[in-house]
Amino acid sequence: MVQVTQFTSVDSKRKRTILVTGGAGFIGANFIRTWLDAEEASVVNLDKLTYAGNLDNLHGLDRTRIEFVQGDIGDVSLVKGLLDRVRPRAIVNFAAESHVDRSIHGPDDFIATNVVGTFRLLECVREYWQRMDASERETFRFVHVSTDEVYGSLLADEVPFRETSAFQPNSPYAASKASSDHLMRAWHHTYALPIITTNCSNNYGPFQFPEKLIPLMIQNALDGKPLPVYGDGLQIRDWLYVEDHCAAIRAVLRAGKPGSTYNIGGESEKTNIEVVHAICDILEEECPQAAKQSYRNQIAFVKDRPGHDRRYAIDASKIRHELEWRPIQSFESGLRNTVRWYVANRAWTARILSGSYRDWIQTNYSAR
Ligand code: NAD
Ligand code: TYD
Repeated sequence: MVQVTQFTSVDSKRKRTILVTGGAGFIGANFIRTWLDAEEASVVNLDKLTYAGNLDNLHGLDRTRIEFVQGDIGDVSLVKGLLDRVRPRAIVNFAAESHVDRSIHGPDDFIATNVVGTFRLLECVREYWQRMDASERETFRFVHVSTDEVYGSLLADEVPFRETSAFQPNSPYAASKASSDHLMRAWHHTYALPIITTNCSNNYGPFQFPEKLIPLMIQNALDGKPLPVYGDGLQIRDWLYVEDHCAAIRAVLRAGKPGSTYNIGGESEKTNIEVVHAICDILEEECPQAAKQSYRNQIAFVKDRPGHDRRYAIDASKIRHELEWRPIQSFESGLRNTVRWYVANRAWTARILSGSYRDWIQTNYSAR
């Protein structure tokens, strides 16, 4: 795959440009891809390129409409200079450390980026926004992309999370995202900065780093390796296809109410073992093994994640009613697309697997 380096577009419609942070990661890259198809405005993508950032994810896109800047959302002089040069009419903040297991093994980076980095970005944006003229200030938006994990864990018989549910984060990752959400709320309340926060359930789809459940299972199955299911595998997640999440964020940018939060989810609750079985079944159709061996034979129950949240579920009725958003993909169709994508793009995964990913697999799975 060709490495995309610095894009050097000069955007003639600067005022309409949006700034995306973390656009070389899983959701950010899908967002940029779908944005360029759906909208006219150009994108500037600020990404630090941590282990999870990958410019292969943006391969093949129209370079006249995206500019890539490598940098940290917490680098105040870089962010200020970028805002002054690009003058974006909106910012969508995806940049974060995003993996719960990594946050358990080493929370530092989560506090540095998700809390301190987000705070610094927010302050730069506040200063930029306050210098705008009144009409620009009116239409400017800052969308902060967050997670349902801020709400903690649900019991089997509890109603799904609403925007009014209490924050009860349980992992270092969830606590760091909850902190950033609180900053968003306060900066809107105190300074009237037009911020909208989205809290989305588990995403899956193309370009997801293979440390997360679905791509990890597909990859291990294809490689003939064990499929490590934590604990009893009966934890529940509410899965949403990534392009449906991206469409929801576009709807929020277009018509979301400043100061609001929106829950986004697929209303598609599955236990982890159901997800793994579904992956195995699709692989059996798409990539049958010799002698009709079942991929399910590779499933291995391993020691549970500490503090593992039992169930997440999202009530997405607010965004459905206010913004008329609804997911297009069912879990079945989205999962099939995803499996097919990973089967067809093994070179993408191979490049990741050859790097520091191997050290992570050793750290997370050797003692289980
Ligand atoms: P990801 O880990 O795949 O990508 C994160 C991106 O942010 C990477 O490109 C990385 O290089 C970049 N980044 C990290 N620290 C940075 C910094 N200090 N400055 C600039 N860039 C930095 O994550 P993802 O799964 O795409 O998630 C994106 C956002 O969506 C996160 O904020 C996450 O909390 C949220 N979210 C994710 C899910 C999910 O299921 N993946 C669900 C709901 C919400
Ligand atoms: P993950 O993709 O890490 O997302 P999150 O923890 O943010 O929900 O994990 C999804 C679920 O899958 C979660 O309950 C943990 C479980 N899981 C496994 O059982 N085995 C694995 O190897 C991984 C990575 C996750």
